[in-house]
Parts: sequence; C-alpha cells; structure tokens
Amino acid sequence: MDPKTLREKYFAFFAEKKHAVISSSSLIPVNDSSVLFTTAGMQPLVPYLLGQKHPQGTRLVNIQKCLRTVDFDNIGDNTHHTFFQMLGNWSLGDYFKKESIAWSWEFLTSPKWMAISPSMLGITVYKGDSLVARDDESVALWKEQGVPVGRIAFCGKDNFWSAGDTGPCGPSTEIFFWTGDSKAPDVFDAEDNRWVEIWNNVFMSYNRLADGSLVELASKNVDTGMGFERELAVLSGQKSAYETELFMPMIRELELMSGRDYIDSMKAMRVVVDHIRAATFILGDDAGIVPANVDRGYILRRLIRRAIRYAKLIGIDSMFAVRIASIVIAEYGGYYTELVRNKEKILAELQKEEDRFTLTLEKGLREFNKIAEQPGVVCGKDAFLLFQSYGFPIEMTEELAGELGRSVDVAAFKVEFEHHQKLSRSATGGMFKGGLADHGEQTVRLHTATHLLNEALRRVLGNDVHQKGSNITPERLRFDFNFSRKLTAEEVKKVEDEVNRVISLGVAVVRREMPYDEAVKLGAEMEFGVKYPATVSVYFVGEYSKEFCGGPHVTNTSELGRFVIQKEEASAAGVRRIKATVVVG
Ligand code: ALA
Repeated sequence: MDPKTLREKYFAFFAEKKHAVISSSSLIPVNDSSVLFTTAGMQPLVPYLLGQKHPQGTRLVNIQKCLRTVDFDNIGDNTHHTFFQMLGNWSLGDYFKKESIAWSWEFLTSPKWMAISPSMLGITVYKGDSLVARDDESVALWKEQGVPVGRIAFCGKDNFWSAGDTGPCGPSTEIFFWTGDSKAPDVFDAEDNRWVEIWNNVFMSYNRLADGSLVELASKNVDTGMGFERELAVLSGQKSAYETELFMPMIRELELMSGRDYIDSMKAMRVVVDHIRAATFILGDDAGIVPANVDRGYILRRLIRRAIRYAKLIGIDSMFAVRIASIVIAEYGGYYTELVRNKEKILAELQKEEDRFTLTLEKGLREFNKIAEQPGVVCGKDAFLLFQSYGFPIEMTEELAGELGRSVDVAAFKVEFEHHQKLSRSATGGMFKGGLADHGEQTVRLHTATHLLNEALRRVLGNDVHQKGSNITPERLRFDFNFSRKLTAEEVKKVEDEVNRVISLGVAVVRREMPYDEAVKLGAEMEFGVKYPATVSVYFVGEYSKEFCGGPHVTNTSELGRFVIQKEEASAAGVRRIKATVVVG
C-alpha cells in the first residue's frame, strides 16, 4: 500500500463513523512552552480532552506530525523514527470503549479496509493498580470481536498513557502485529519484540494533578494513536518503514551517492534519512526554527550534524543534505504543503549548516581521537573544546566516546559551557532543557538518587525488595517497592544514611550498552513488566548498583548533595511508597 492510500482510507473509514477530519497542527506546539515539539496527536487537543467544546464536534480524526527525541538512541532500528506521523481518532465525551475497540478491529481486519489477518494480531489491556481497576471490560469487548484469550495480555505501566506528568490520561489497550519470520505464536507475549505495537487506544478518563493524584474527568474520552510509519511497513509486508515508499526514494539516492548498498550500510543510511527528514519538517514548519545552540534550534542542529557524521561514514562528504531534503519535499509536499511553501528556506539552512560543520568535522574527529588516547572519562574541558572549536554537540561527543566504551563528564561540560559562553540564564536553561536529553539538572539528580535508594532499600530491608514503580518531578522522587509492612523510623533513617554514605563517597556513574542476556546475567535490576529490547543500556554506580535504564544520570554521586526522605507510606497491598528529594549546596 502507498502512503496516500493509507491516509485516505483511514480518513474515509472514520468519516463513515461520523468523524470530522482536522488538519495536522504545527510540529512546534502553539502556546505551550512545556514541550519542544508535538509528541502525540492528542497534544494540541488537551483543552478539549479536559472538557472545552471543540468547534468541529465530538468525533475527530487526523494525521499529526510528531517528533520525539527521547528515543534518539533507537534511531536506526526497525520501529523508531525521530519524526513520525500519527493517525488518530478521538471521542470527546462521545463514544467509549465499545465503539473504539470495534472500529479499530474493523479498520485493521475488514477486507474492505486494511484486510490484515486477525491471526497476526495481539492485544494488551491494563492490568490495574491501586487507583485504577483492571480493564476487564476491554477484554470482554476484544473477545466479542473474536480475539482468542491467548492473544490478550494484561500489562502494567505501558498501558496507562499520559503525555506528561500532569494532564489527561487513562488506561489503554494496544494492538500488536507479529513481525517474526515464523508463524505467529498462539500465545501473545508483549515482551517478545517481534510483536510490534501499531495502535494505542487510550481511554482518557482522568486528569492527573501536580501532586500525582487522579481526578475523574466529567466526560470520558477516547484518544487513539496509530503509527503511520509502522502501519505502512506492516501493510507493505516489510519489517520497517525504511523499506517502504516513505524512505526508499531517499535511500536510493544515498546508494547512488555513496556507491554502497543499503543492505551493507543500513544503520548509517537509516540515521541519515531519518534525521534529514526530521530536519526538513522542522525547517519546513511555519514557526521559523533555524539551527542554533539553544532550544529547538539545538535539536535541529544536532539532527543535521549527526546526519553529516553518518553520511561521512559511508563516504559522502558534500552536498548531500539538500539532495535528500529535496526528495523529502517532493514526496511529502503534496500533503504537507508547508514544505513546498518553505522550500527555499529549508534548502538554504541545510546547506549553510552542512557547509559550516563540514569545515570542522574532520579536524574535530582527529582531535577527538587524540583526546581518546587518554584513558578514563572524557573530561568537561575536552568536550567543551570539541563543542567550541569544532561544533560537536555534546551528544555527538558522548556517542563517539560510547563507541569506544567510554563516557563523558557532561556535568563538567555544562560548567565549562556556562563559564565560557556567558550566555544569559534563559538561553542556557533553554539549551539544557532541549539539548541535554530534555531533563532539568534536579530531575537528573533525583533520577540517580532513585537508583541509590533502590539499592539502599535492599541493603537495609533485604534482597527481596524490588522496584514496583517510580515517578520523578523536579521537586521530588517517588519510589514504590514491595514490602509487607510500614518501615520503622529507624529503618527510614538507615536507608537515608545509606544513600548519603554513597553520595559522600563520590562514586562514578557510568552507562554501558550490552546484550539483554548479559545484563540479566550481571544481575542488573530491572522493572517488572517492562519490555526491554535486545540491546539494553545499563547504568552502574560504581560497584554499588546496576540497573537497566535509559538515563540520563549525573556522572558522579557527589553531585547529589544531601538525600532526604520526606515520606514513607502505603501504596497498594504489599507495596510501600517513599517520597524523597536531594538538597544541593
Ligand atoms: N496518545 C496516545 C499515544 O501517543 C494514543 O500513544
């Protein structure tokens, strides 16, 4: 199937079900400074999900331009893209689970629509928690559609969806497609990554407040999201969207330019086309973003520069960004007319950025190799030199170091950055908000403190204690763990002291990528019910703690200051909850 047909069929199907087609909002959120880019179709609809009346009614459908940078490390695999398109249909206090489930199933499996064999599909349903009941209603509705029991699985965290720490949220049911080479197993296993999630139906019934509590919404909504890229891959019989019309024209061009085959240079070519497509859409948005060292412009710069580095790896060292972007505009401009409208600007900015970075990349790589001859962590001064003199975004230095199994002292880089650039507070804050993995410094500290707390609890209370959930805001961490009774005041104090002991030792925090099995063998802590990929990232706090985790973290525990437990309370049967924070300075 081609992209246009899929888009039009999706709209036609939901138009039959009385949905109004709304246009894609800007990739850059309007009137919302809490996020850098639109990350889901529901984001521009938040006011309506919270009860405001939508001018086009209570049933809406669209395709939304989205961009997510949190999965940066995954780019190049089969299922993740920086920029992607999300097909969505919404009920604003109109229909609920029954119609939502029936229609998703009909659209996917009916011969008149997508004609996917039901034998290729599996379903996850929310297993419930202390606040929200298990979603047995959805199970019954899936059974009504003829889904066998073995293909329905209860899941935890992944099936409670929200765009952020606060706002509309609710339990979800997800549809998975079997991409394995063998026959689809009778029993669906959401942990097996050959099952790929294609559609998420969220039953938005709550508004989460800043204190973590859930308030029931007056009207119950449905928010669905189907990954356009993934869906097109499925319908084209391909393992990834890169092998579909969405990317192949650009990949063919790279093959021509490099004289290499896609099959042999897959990762590099995927990174290049993913990043240049994303950059084209950011530059093509009417919001007028250009490459810069702060905020959204910094994300854009990082994408273009990373594409340039990967293009170089396959022997392309000039004038490629504009050629690839021209194909993106030709392929996507029919629907996303802003790309055509802004074509000149897109190409001019890409060429400028490519010219600028090509001048310094080679020399910078030589400098990096010299730096890397010194053993140990790449220090902040060196990382800053690479940034200042050669234009290496800190993430690029981290990636280069990571390829040698090394890490970078990012905290020290930040200090250098602030010192040398003497940038205004807001500009610096902006860069770290968007550039350095979208996390504030206090959030990062609390994240590392969570790892220490996890281990400290085991040391004080016994080895059977494990994480059951966690949530971090800039103010505090919240950590749930299994334990059958209230902790004594003395135990709370012991746990607190234990964390502070490790903080005061100044232990290095290091990230390593390794095969999943190896991490399990090492005994790294993992969260129950979470799906992990074949290659995982593990964070080591010296010898003290090892955990499956995507980060980010501080580079040394001494950065945490003083750890304070604020509260210890019950969370659910057999589960306790600790709220804590760190005080720096
Ligand atoms: N908002 C939901 C998601 O992004 C549908 O998965």
